[in-house]
Amino acid sequence: MLDIPVFRVTQFRRVAFVVLALQHIRLYTRQFDLTEVGWGCLGDDVVGKNLGERIREVHRLRKKGNLPPVYPNGWFAIIESRKVAVAQVVSVQAFGETMAVFRGEDKMVHVTDAYCPHIGANMAVGGVVKGSCLECPFHGWLFRGTDGVCVDIPYTAKAIPKTAKVKRWESREMNGFVFVWHDAEGREPEWEVPEVHQITSGSWSYRGRTQHHLLAHIQEIPENGADVAHLAHLHVPSIFKGADLRHIFTHSWLQDLAKHNWNGEWQVRAEPESHVADLAVKHSFSLLGGKLNVLNMTVRAEQIGPGVVHLHFNTAVGSGVLIQTVTPVEPLRQRVIHQFYSSRFFLAPFSNFVLHSEARHFERDIMVWNNKQYLSQPLLVAEDRFIVRFRRWYSQFYSENSPKFSFQKESLDW
Ligand code: FES
Ligand SMILES: [Fe+2]
Repeated sequence: MLDIPVFRVTQFRRVAFVVLALQHIRLYTRQFDLTEVGWGCLGDDVVGKNLGERIREVHRLRKKGNLPPVYPNGWFAIIESRKVAVAQVVSVQAFGETMAVFRGEDKMVHVTDAYCPHIGANMAVGGVVKGSCLECPFHGWLFRGTDGVCVDIPYTAKAIPKTAKVKRWESREMNGFVFVWHDAEGREPEWEVPEVHQITSGSWSYRGRTQHHLLAHIQEIPENGADVAHLAHLHVPSIFKGADLRHIFTHSWLQDLAKHNWNGEWQVRAEPESHVADLAVKHSFSLLGGKLNVLNMTVRAEQIGPGVVHLHFNTAVGSGVLIQTVTPVEPLRQRVIHQFYSSRFFLAPFSNFVLHSEARHFERDIMVWNNKQYLSQPLLVAEDRFIVRFRRWYSQFYSENSPKFSFQKESLDW
């Protein structure tokens, strides 16, 4: 009789040890630059400088179609919180602008235009954070982060000119990212990115990140959520078949034993949350050609404005949220970052699988986006109805002065 509790304690310790060991598997990270993913179609022998040249050519010659404005209005992530330490300044590019993002000594993040109004130095390159101000490296002018006003010119006895001011961007730090509000009409924020309490309270753990760059109009990326028909085609072959579109549909008896199954519904929220759309997805990963489900997930994706998605995962082994941020760096170039947070019992191998699987599927989309044309009047069938609703919904993020692509053609020459 006495042996039983001893046996249980030992077993419990073993299980706890395995759980702890699994949780200390390294954080997942996957980061690709523009040329590194989605260009297999150019041929395996096109590498290095030639690859860059060929991508430029594809991008330049690709039919652009009747594109919507290139920078929608809303909140966009410009950097991850962990990349801006206290008293650090970072130069960031978004919406064709260069910004200085700095964290004051009071830990608050500030975002201003990077170029100093004095003679134009980039203050994020060698600038020094002092209190909640940023000092320009060129002549030492000091700008306040809270309003962009110059509060010190170290070598003049005269009053500081009233026009000595740098543009300050409205920003928020939330869920592991720094967001700025972009609005072509200069209006104040009309809604907020919701807090994910499990992230901000620390009850869920950070599991890793992925980062990709791609060449497409920003609207193409969230349209993917409403395009439920593509889920049941492009994303059915298992991730073991990779992300290169040239290979995922070729038959392989071993790799075809595994597959993904999807079922999705997309809808818009009512006022006052009409800037949010919801995608409900049932996803299963199965073996034996679909006969044996090994991982069932319900995914609730909230598309929050034009550039942020919260994907809430629920599985038998725990819950988590994948935060997706899409930010236009320039008119047809997007930077996409995913960060994954999950409950502590969501073991590292599973969270790595979620991040890896999401990244591989996303890379298939990138290969489509990098090479596709935007069609303002696509040839849709009845089952594509969510795409029509999506476009109507997304148009709320454009306004009279939203910049059009035709004014920015020179930026094709990246
Ligand atoms: S250019 Fe910034 S202080 Fe002179
Ligand atoms: Fe997709």
